[in-house]
Amino acid sequence: MKKGVFITIEGGEGAGKSTLIEQLSNTMIQKGRLVMTTREPGGIPIAEQIRSVILDRGNITMDARTEALLYAAARRQHLVEKVVPALEKGTHVICDRFVDSSLAYQGYARGLGMDEVWAINSFAIQNLMPDLTIYMDASPEIGLSRIKQSAEREVNRLDLEKRSFHERVREGYMQLLKKHPDRIVLINAEQSPEKVFCDVLTVIEQRFAGFFATDVKS
Ligand code: TMP
Repeated sequence: MKKGVFITIEGGEGAGKSTLIEQLSNTMIQKGRLVMTTREPGGIPIAEQIRSVILDRGNITMDARTEALLYAAARRQHLVEKVVPALEKGTHVICDRFVDSSLAYQGYARGLGMDEVWAINSFAIQNLMPDLTIYMDASPEIGLSRIKQSAEREVNRLDLEKRSFHERVREGYMQLLKKHPDRIVLINAEQSPEKVFCDVLTVIEQRFAGFFATDVKS
């Protein structure tokens, strides 16, 4: 039975997810919360291996459905091996990307269809959805320029897609926001990291009253 809170962070390339996740987990740890951060695709050895196949810049012949299935396979393994056990122990989980990425990237931007991509993912996740999803919204122009400026950030196969692909990813997320207004919250990720963080803390406090208020172990 799930006891921890499951939060996912979504967004296009260069939206600032990693910075936000670090700030969020540091704050939660300071408040005495048990927290685990992880990422998709990856987070555990099997899923990291799948990640390197999907994102390998040499794999230019990869079929769109193959790509969608690989993301779903990595997701399944990561969920059962890492996320579910943590949540069951009462650890809060902050995950960099989850099923909404597949819906926006493969379902919408690649044109496979959100319903089709949802079908394989619902098989993979068996109804385990996040309690809250933060969507970090930034224009592809700003996001991609941030990636170019960052020497540490890997440039993967999907980063190499045309600007129009990244525009469609953003449109896909907008559709998801309309469909799931209770779960997904849009944050303006073009603001400073400090302002983004402040907005996210406000959202979390609103959703889970007292989450950051007390220094308790949970
Ligand atoms: P990252 O750069 O945030 O680590 O994500 C790796 C890439 O994989 C990024 O371009 C988004 C993409 N992606 C999908 O296309 N579908 C998915 O389901 C996931 C989790 C990621």
